[in-house]
Amino acid sequence: MSHPPQIVIFGASGDLAFGKLIPALTRLAAQGLPKESFRVIGVARRHKTNESYRAEIRAALPRELANQFHNLEPRIEYIVGDVGNREDLIRIKRHLETLPGGNGAGRLFYLSLKASLFAQAVRELAEMGLLERQLQPDQPWRRVVIEKPFGHDLASARALNSALHETLEEEQIYRIDHYLGKETIQNILGLRFHNAIFEPLWNRQHVEVIQITVAEHLGMESGRGSYYDTAGAVRDMLQNHMLQILALVAMEPPSSLDAEEIRGLKVSLLKSLRLHDPKRMVRARYTAGHMQGESVPGYLDEDGVPSDSTTETYFAVRAELDNWRWNGVPILLRHGKRLPKKFTEVQILFRTPPLQLFNRPPDISDTEFRQAIRAGSLCQLRPNVLTLSIQPREGISLSFGVKTPGSGMIMAPARLDFDYRDHFGQSTTPAYERLLLDALMGDATLFLRADEIEACWTFADQILEAWQNGTVPLLDYPAGSWGPEAANDLFIGCEGAWSTGEGT
Ligand code: BG6
Repeated sequence: MSHPPQIVIFGASGDLAFGKLIPALTRLAAQGLPKESFRVIGVARRHKTNESYRAEIRAALPRELANQFHNLEPRIEYIVGDVGNREDLIRIKRHLETLPGGNGAGRLFYLSLKASLFAQAVRELAEMGLLERQLQPDQPWRRVVIEKPFGHDLASARALNSALHETLEEEQIYRIDHYLGKETIQNILGLRFHNAIFEPLWNRQHVEVIQITVAEHLGMESGRGSYYDTAGAVRDMLQNHMLQILALVAMEPPSSLDAEEIRGLKVSLLKSLRLHDPKRMVRARYTAGHMQGESVPGYLDEDGVPSDSTTETYFAVRAELDNWRWNGVPILLRHGKRLPKKFTEVQILFRTPPLQLFNRPPDISDTEFRQAIRAGSLCQLRPNVLTLSIQPREGISLSFGVKTPGSGMIMAPARLDFDYRDHFGQSTTPAYERLLLDALMGDATLFLRADEIEACWTFADQILEAWQNGTVPLLDYPAGSWGPEAANDLFIGCEGAWSTGEGT
């Protein structure tokens, strides 16, 4: 990159721009990244001048970032415009041509727009000669970042992919999933493939259950009700963020960190994902309840939610990976809004030793003890759990059993803990900062490829179809509770229970 790249944000006056994109760009500018520097052109329909836009940003930035804004301030401008309006696009084009490097500069278009506008926006930008198909390596680069939701189901995601491919090469399309920008999620690959001790255990011989939870306090704050009601928990969290976590946890080892290598392996893994049994699923929505001592309304009473809504705010699903490595290992996935605790966590439960030597209850003999375990009427202690805490705690812990001091052989649980903040003395890089920098540098590893999105939808559609055909009833849970009891039945026998995020 020899000229300062141009970043054009459509939807520049929205929550995402103010809450995530501009703060991330402010931090990048303060660190002098990337070294060619960059220019930002915010585009939105609301009337603003450069000065008023900059003043609004300054007022909205958290204090520690407002002090750094002077680095970005002279490089950020605002144009009143609409991606569907030719005249506006001509003005944007003319303006970009006047910036250093003009048409020779690389261009990143960030579409923070309504999903229904993605295809049209890309077409209009292409027709205007702003976002040309890139066929020669020496052409100035042109890329587009597409926000979520990418489609509403498999058919619409495919249609959107085909529409984008009519004008662009796949390499120019950066489908963002902000979870992939989280340090703790990227570290899943680091943990698995830098440390040789884990990989030999990472399979069905040694792993009994994998569970992933994304629990949120949030309900429908900031007027999200009307959008959310068109999506629901599976589309909003499972199809994208949670399947990305699962793909990194369960994919085969890569031979390099190359974007195509990693994404190809994720796609293979996602294609092997199946529902265990369409009945082993729970869907629910919250009713009025209490969160941290305050009463909160039920989902149906949230602004923007129609009173006849059947949208879920919670799901729990038992799935499996139909492949050599994971055959038979239950994959339990759970997410809910208005749960008692905010935490995102992956838990890998390892199998027990073949023989239980310890912790026999005093009132039965050794033989009865072993018989009861074999019959499943008594559960053997599962001492080894590897917990990947994604957020708010960012760390890893491994539990194991140790002998309690004293006579007898009583084993008690203990833990090895790693915490990012304690270890590195600083917080992790915010997701959007990493992802924007990667998009500017042309590294697509942490963005989703067309076939990857489609593989995710193929699985999500299996769930959504079962819901539509009435196989799974819509249950209620009070806000502030852990969701319906029925979710506990997704664990069979001695497989354990849902995590409540104790280590998070
Ligand atoms: C978004 C969802 O993609 O992710 C929201 O639309 C959800 O509903 C959010 O709250 C969670 O992101 P994070 O980074 O706060 O876990």
